[in-house]
Amino acid sequence: TEMGCLSIVVLGASGDLAKKKTFPALFNLFRQGFLQSNEVHIFGYARTKLSDDDLRERIRGYLIKGALPENLEILSDFLKLIKYVSGGYDSAEGFLSLNKEISEHELAKNSYGSSRRLFYLALPPSVYPSVCKMIKSYCMNQAVPTGWTRIVVEKPFGKDLASAEELSAQLGELFDEPQLYRIDHYLGKELVQNLLVLRFANRLFLPLWNRDNIDNIQIVFREDFGTEGRGGYFDEYGIIRDIIQNHLLQVLCLVAMEKPVSLRPEHIRDEKVKVLQSVLPINYDEVVLGQYEGYTDDPTVSKDSNTPTFATMILRIHNERWEGVPFIMKAGKALNSRKAEIRVQFKDVPGDIFKCKKQGRNEFVIRLQPKEAMYMKLTVKKPGLDMSTIQSELDLSYGQRYQEVQIPEAYERLILDTIRGDQQHFVRRDELRAAWEIFTPLLHDIEDGKVKPVPYKPGSRGPPEADELAAKAGYVQTHGYIWIPPTL
Ligand code: BG6
Repeated sequence: TEMGCLSIVVLGASGDLAKKKTFPALFNLFRQGFLQSNEVHIFGYARTKLSDDDLRERIRGYLIKGALPENLEILSDFLKLIKYVSGGYDSAEGFLSLNKEISEHELAKNSYGSSRRLFYLALPPSVYPSVCKMIKSYCMNQAVPTGWTRIVVEKPFGKDLASAEELSAQLGELFDEPQLYRIDHYLGKELVQNLLVLRFANRLFLPLWNRDNIDNIQIVFREDFGTEGRGGYFDEYGIIRDIIQNHLLQVLCLVAMEKPVSLRPEHIRDEKVKVLQSVLPINYDEVVLGQYEGYTDDPTVSKDSNTPTFATMILRIHNERWEGVPFIMKAGKALNSRKAEIRVQFKDVPGDIFKCKKQGRNEFVIRLQPKEAMYMKLTVKKPGLDMSTIQSELDLSYGQRYQEVQIPEAYERLILDTIRGDQQHFVRRDELRAAWEIFTPLLHDIEDGKVKPVPYKPGSRGPPEADELAAKAGYVQTHGYIWIPPTL
């Protein structure tokens, strides 16, 4: 690891994202020794007038929940690293004083001769351009032997192709691509990061992973709560922008892409872009939108809102590997369960002599959350004297197999990557563009009321039309079998 001065600046320090994700992730990195008190300083920046201690107290309140007693001392060491600077997001004065604070800290540590500055924008995207301009004008790293300035931003990156391109252009004028880290926190999840290893380090999968053997693939996100407290944001964006265009599409890329030349971030992202560019325009006959009943009761949501809180759609990849294989994307709020998973369903066995068709197909399931697991549904002989078959599984449940490992939070990993300068798990500008190209026509038609969501009951599976669509696309539900995660 590099030695020397590292300044982490959290802009929007008093907001929700900072409290819930950024500071806890920084604390966890500190706790595990990835951030050292002799080189790191953390600066919170926001408009509210607060003292250093006010901010520390707020953060402490969040971090103390669930903290183990042995971590309390570490927590107070961590809080000592935090300073607060208040100022507007387009105020030269504010950013000058921020720069002064950072520089003082660097001077105090200048024996190391480095100036590394990480700006984490825990802010609404509407202020990204002005904040970036301010950083560029007043807060760039010092010209000392080692140093850099990096900017971390998070979705929503625009609302459609045009607005996303505009935002990219604005940021692109100020910073080069290697300085920009666009977070998609799904890329920080353990089993998402495992996808490349699974696919390309296992001989078992290589010959199977294509249209000759795979019938359909589902990528599913379900939440068992509604838009609680976020109605205002959500109503403007909807489930496609909130989940499918970014999180699920990133997963699709990793499931569908060709083998990269190497593990270099550019090589990986080149392959992701290729897959995205091969996605065909969405056929509206293969889209089901839903809105849960009661959604518009939220006072921050407009009464006649056309915003989907549920969507299923089929994406088709026009290339040699995937032609004819539907990628069934599904995401919904206020459903009957909370989980995210990938289901790869294989074709039926030709010339089946066991008549096991009714029982179901081979299916490889990657459970991203909760309780990370992978399991493969197989047909086996039912143990006993009779020669009959049943569905069973090969099961790799992380909680059981890796009992001593605590799986890191997505944000923890991703922030560490930004410090290390590894962009593999971040979204490149051309990738973002290609992603928006897929969904923009549909999004515009939803906005114009040309495509409408059907109502569904909160706590249900979503609209029945969605299951019908998946079945029509070829997904065969397994009957009389259910995977039971090991209790541990
Ligand atoms: C966020 C969405 O990006 O992801 C939220 O804005 C959603 O609506 C969240 O709840 C889900 O993240 P996770 O990690 O809990 O699956």
